[in-house]
Amino acid sequence: MSKHTVTTIQAMRDNNETITMLTAYDYPTAKKVNDAGIDMILVGDSCAMVVHGHPNTLTATMDMMVLHCAAVARACDRTMVIADMPFGSFQYSIEDTMKNAARFVTEAKVDGVKFEATHNHIAKTKAVVEMGIACVGHVGLHPQAVGALGGLKAQGRDIDSARKVVSEALALQDAGVFAIIFEAVPAKLSDYVTRKLDIPTISIGGGPQCSGQLLVTPDVLGLYDTFTPSFAKQYVNVGQLMTDTFSQYAQEVKAGVFPGKEHSYGMSDDVLESIVQEFGEV
Ligand code: KIV
Repeated sequence: MSKHTVTTIQAMRDNNETITMLTAYDYPTAKKVNDAGIDMILVGDSCAMVVHGHPNTLTATMDMMVLHCAAVARACDRTMVIADMPFGSFQYSIEDTMKNAARFVTEAKVDGVKFEATHNHIAKTKAVVEMGIACVGHVGLHPQAVGALGGLKAQGRDIDSARKVVSEALALQDAGVFAIIFEAVPAKLSDYVTRKLDIPTISIGGGPQCSGQLLVTPDVLGLYDTFTPSFAKQYVNVGQLMTDTFSQYAQEVKAGVFPGKEHSYGMSDDVLESIVQEFGEV
């Protein structure tokens, strides 16, 4: 199967085939996600939290994101890779936004970029689309606005907030994005907007009626428990498996069980004898 593109992702939506998306931040994980047949990867700025241990996503930088994106892109021959534009990379000028989006394509070789774009950033989104870069929008909860929102809270539950979600989604579609992520919004609202739009919608806490579903991979694997949103689902506890494995290793090292003969290099006795003659007995 060849690599997913904006065309194949749109065709999935048009054929009612649900789109699958996960986050990834490194080569080995991205390879497994690719090999599992997941359609899209987001190299999210959630990286700042789940990989680098920061309390929120605001500390993700362009350099950090480009490095992680390049590792992920090298692993994917089927999955479409989307880079998340970090805080400060698209909030200033159109020119800055275009240069930062271009870095992801030229240096990291990703297939597209995503913005937490509000109405204030529609012109910048349009400018990047017009450069020929595949763009994904993001409505509902914008984790980069955690300060202004007073926390990572669901959006679109009252009339003003719901209106914002709908109008931003429509404006993003008009700006030319090929898909929109709906984060932490009521299922009824994303269902309504999904039916109103012509492009795919991808839910992360946006309910089952979106065209696709996205989860943060360390949540899926039980690798990050500092903050777990209520919409996340843990499928396996790899974190516990890692802790158990590391403690088994420590026990074996302390007991002299590891390394065994099979993990050590051999050497002829002649070489050792020569060394002893030259440097003396111990
Ligand atoms: O950074 C990220 O992982 C994201 C998703 C939560 C949508 O932006």
